[in-house]
Amino acid sequence: MTQDELKALVRTVPDFPHAGILFRDVTTLIGHGEGFAVAVTLLAQQAAAIGAEAVAGIEARGFIFGAAVAARLGLPFVPVRKPGKLPVPVLALDYALEYGTGTLEVDPGAVHAGQQVVVIDDLVATGGTALAAVELLRKATARADHALFLIDLPDLGGADRLRGAGVAVQSLMDFP
Ligand code: PRP
Ligand code: ADE
Repeated sequence: MTQDELKALVRTVPDFPHAGILFRDVTTLIGHGEGFAVAVTLLAQQAAAIGAEAVAGIEARGFIFGAAVAARLGLPFVPVRKPGKLPVPVLALDYALEYGTGTLEVDPGAVHAGQQVVVIDDLVATGGTALAAVELLRKATARADHALFLIDLPDLGGADRLRGAGVAVQSLMDFP
């Protein structure tokens, strides 16, 4: 499957969840068996190449890709969760994203000091979400030097924002 064929599996929905937003929907890609497998294989190759020791996936869409990559590589999976879901004391951070605000939480016991944890999500837009995940993992004393995305929306500047915070960013496709 070519990169263009993979990209064609992403559905674009105008005005969701708010007027003016072009929503890049991965539901159609994960609903295509070969497309999902190719995406996971490519992300897993990138995660292996950077020497990831654990994979952090951001709820909810980052769980789909991050968990698959972790299982493929036999690495621990660290869930970066929406608020109130983890049954232990958490580290928490508020953040802004393209179309709203949110809070992410991490169990500090899910990582260990100096562990190279790669952050995986389906998409980076403003980078607010991924940056919050990186900051939480670093606060938990892990290293979070890499982030992998299926999709980059470069006009929103998130990948550059992450790079400015010392995070190397790779994505499988972009929608300028
Ligand atoms: C989406 C997407 C990323 C985030 C990117 O998640 O999955 O996590 O937005 O936006 P940003 O780069 O501007 O921060 P959303 O909060 O919609 O949650 P979901 O995965 O539960 O659908
Ligand atoms: N998360 C933030 N911006 C998004 C977009 N335009 N499409 C899908 N998910 C997003």
